[in-house]
Amino acid sequence: MASDLDISFAKSAKATDGLAIVLTLSGDLAFSGAETADPKGVLARAAKTAGFSGKAQGVLDLLAPEGSPAARLVAIGLGKASAITNHDWLTAGGVAASKLGKAEKATIFLDVPGLDGTGQAAADFALGMLLRAYAFERYKSKKNGKDDSDEPKPPKSVKMTIVTADAADAKKAFADCEAIAGGVILARDLVNEPANILGPVEFAARAAALDKLGVEVEILTEKEMGKLGMGALLGVAQGSVRPPRLAILKWNGGKAKEKPVAFIGKGVVFDTGGISIKPAAGMEDMKGDMGGAAAVTGLMHALAARKAKVNAIGILGLVENMPDGNAQRPGDIVTSMSGQTIEIVNTDAEGRLVLGDALWYCQDRFKPRFMINLATLTGAIMVALGSDHAGLFSNNDELAGQLLAAGEATQEKLWRMPLGKAYDKMIDSRFADMKNTGGRYGGACTAAQFLQRFVNDTPWAHLDIAGTAMDSPKTEISQSWASGFGVRLLDRLVRDNFEK
Ligand code: BES
Ligand code: MN
Ligand code: ZN
Repeated sequence: MASDLDISFAKSAKATDGLAIVLTLSGDLAFSGAETADPKGVLARAAKTAGFSGKAQGVLDLLAPEGSPAARLVAIGLGKASAITNHDWLTAGGVAASKLGKAEKATIFLDVPGLDGTGQAAADFALGMLLRAYAFERYKSKKNGKDDSDEPKPPKSVKMTIVTADAADAKKAFADCEAIAGGVILARDLVNEPANILGPVEFAARAAALDKLGVEVEILTEKEMGKLGMGALLGVAQGSVRPPRLAILKWNGGKAKEKPVAFIGKGVVFDTGGISIKPAAGMEDMKGDMGGAAAVTGLMHALAARKAKVNAIGILGLVENMPDGNAQRPGDIVTSMSGQTIEIVNTDAEGRLVLGDALWYCQDRFKPRFMINLATLTGAIMVALGSDHAGLFSNNDELAGQLLAAGEATQEKLWRMPLGKAYDKMIDSRFADMKNTGGRYGGACTAAQFLQRFVNDTPWAHLDIAGTAMDSPKTEISQSWASGFGVRLLDRLVRDNFEK
């Protein structure tokens, strides 16, 4: 399933001879668009036969329904009216997109009896469809694997008409949702892309393409980072033949003098572990170790594409972690841009080294209102939280609260984890100001503690997305290995708190 969806909104429309999708609450079933899509009321009978109750995400699929102009009629349940959130509309859109099959056109009736619709709900529904329809097929020479069979392929493009009384509002709200979809899809593409294609230089070039949306882009080279004294980041990069980059993205949508908000991403395009090399099994997943940088890039796309009224900085630390004759060794001591020295005890704890310099640079140069970094930082956070929540560490309760609320709203969920002196002590070093790991116990916390040593007094949050950015469970709105986690979350954070 990788059709392009061409979505438009209308106040009314006839069901065509293609696909019609209708919705209902649970309980006493009453379907949207019944007059046009189901004039003979065949759905009610079919629902009884199939045991369709209208519960959330339930589906009833009828072929050649009697009396209907539609060739196929799909009903989707929404559950109880009182419990429906915007996220449920997103999910319902995902379910709808999964039922398109071979249809080249579809009419979707959103005005559910017993439910007050809003333009935003319809736009969220459409966003759910776009996210569900995403598939990464760049390297499948036989698209959908179907070219040799007799099965018809999914159409290249599906013309979708969403029918709702709030069509004008929906269209307006959908413009922002399209910007967000573009950001999520960009993040997914970057994470899915293999490392032979996407090195630090290539990643920086993809980020630089955001200039088309009005984003200002600066790319720092190895030499420039050397002058700034970024010995921690450069130490990681020195084992790779592919040079590192630091990408700086600026979206100036706010007032001229307003301090920016800042997002910093770990962009390890491939993490072999370096000299402390990782086991072979599953190492291919480490092409996704730039999930933090991908989320920041996707977020900057979303903010710029919807012309968010905020000044935002995105910083991407782009390196490759390789073993090599020139690679850094366990026991090496490097000096970070902050002046603090670091004993490398494990070259596989590289993300914090990259972020330490990127965070320091960010607060030093931009004096932001806050910094939020995203990183596929530790296996330990996956042990603690699995793939249902990302770990949230913060030195600021207000920022943490705003993030948790955005997590609830978008269902990109966060769980707050502890920081504290005891964890901090675990990374003291015998030879330098700190060492780059504190051992196995509390591994996600000591990694966060390391980052905190590079944020000064800036309000800061660290999101450990190792469990949520890649190898993601399939959901109604994501079927991809790369979820794009963080884009919707942070767009929401900005929208709800920092655009005034
Ligand atoms: N990129 C990894 C963390 C990771 C592991 C992300 C699995 C996604 C899936 C990170 O650089 C790493 O190797 N962390 C080590 C730290 C350890 C050496 C202290 C880890 O978690 O094992
Ligand atoms: Mn590593
Ligand atoms: Zn890593």
